Amino acid sequence: MHRISLIPGDGIGPEVSAAAQAVVAAAGAAVEWEVVEAGMAAGERGGHPLPPPVFESIARNKIVVKGPTQTPFGDAYPVQVGERIYPSVAIALRKELKLFVNVRPARNCPGIKSRFDHVDLVIFRENSEDLYIGQERMIDADTAEAVKIITRGASERVTRFAFDYMQRTGRRKLTAVHKSNVLKLTDGLFLKSAQAVAKEYPQFGFDARVVDALCMELVVKPESFDCLVLPNLYGDIVSDLAAGLVGGLGVAPGANIGSDCAMFEAVHGSAPDIAGRDLANPMAMILSVVMMLRYIGESAAADRIDAALAAVLTEGRAVTRDLGGVAGTRGMTQAIVEQIKA
Ligand code: NAI
Repeated sequence: MHRISLIPGDGIGPEVSAAAQAVVAAAGAAVEWEVVEAGMAAGERGGHPLPPPVFESIARNKIVVKGPTQTPFGDAYPVQVGERIYPSVAIALRKELKLFVNVRPARNCPGIKSRFDHVDLVIFRENSEDLYIGQERMIDADTAEAVKIITRGASERVTRFAFDYMQRTGRRKLTAVHKSNVLKLTDGLFLKSAQAVAKEYPQFGFDARVVDALCMELVVKPESFDCLVLPNLYGDIVSDLAAGLVGGLGVAPGANIGSDCAMFEAVHGSAPDIAGRDLANPMAMILSVVMMLRYIGESAAADRIDAALAAVLTEGRAVTRDLGGVAGTRGMTQAIVEQIKA
């Protein structure tokens, strides 16, 4: 039995988390959940948005499924862990757990309208450095500065992770994305590191693209790409672009993986505008949990959920309104559960 930490989160988080738990149970996965509270509501109730029991649970279980957590605007609550301060619970977890890569698949699903067919991408975003180290300052009243850090170690690590993932999952080609024509040292180092690692994996195709040219090509012929590896900032932007190619953030799952533990979460936020109204599309959270099941070796259960979800999407009525259907969160979940058991 795998024990998995679960943070239901804020807004629609508890609704989509309940949906994910229901389909995992129906699929017969050997999973039991340890529910821990984090996020804005947890902060308001208990005084801390990311209390120690969350870290204790993850340290025990090594795997966490996280619902979206709300970040209040302004400095309402910076998330403090020890001496360190983070802007949000999600960022605090990614940093504290040293989750060095964000894996975001983007592929067409049956029944989901999108501009393109045959899109099947996996994006590997370096998660630990680049402009996101948070070193910004005002040089004077009119000038701000941000520091961009790229290291050989982190660039090689994310590229190696990408190739190993490709090996396990039968992918073909990796494209390294950079802007080394302008950022010759930082992005230059990222590119050189990726190229060096690619030599260790001659069985895969490998090429590189400047990030602006990549964006243009992605919205013209996305089917010509397979896997992408990117520094943090480009990875953040391009993975949302890729989600847009296949139906939007409502259907986009993600995994954050480190050497010691892994966190699986939908890409979307807590959607306070529809929270508590049985309107949330549970699909991104369900697909995140499917990624988790594959990660822990529960592939048969993952296949059952994938197949049931595809059947419900293809039928097209028992899906939430954002997908053009008439069901609520609970109705869509029930349809998937019934399909799994059929
Ligand atoms: P959002 O993703 O929550 O919502 C954007 C729009 O998409 C809204 O109209 C919402 O109703 C819709 N939407 C999102 N998920 C949906 C779903 N599953 N089904 C149907 N419609 C859905 O982004 P927003 O509004 O920018 O952020 C809201 C809060 O979530 C903020 O506090 C933000 O910081 C937080 N957030 C948390 C994340 C995390 O915990 N990983 C990630 C992104 C945002």
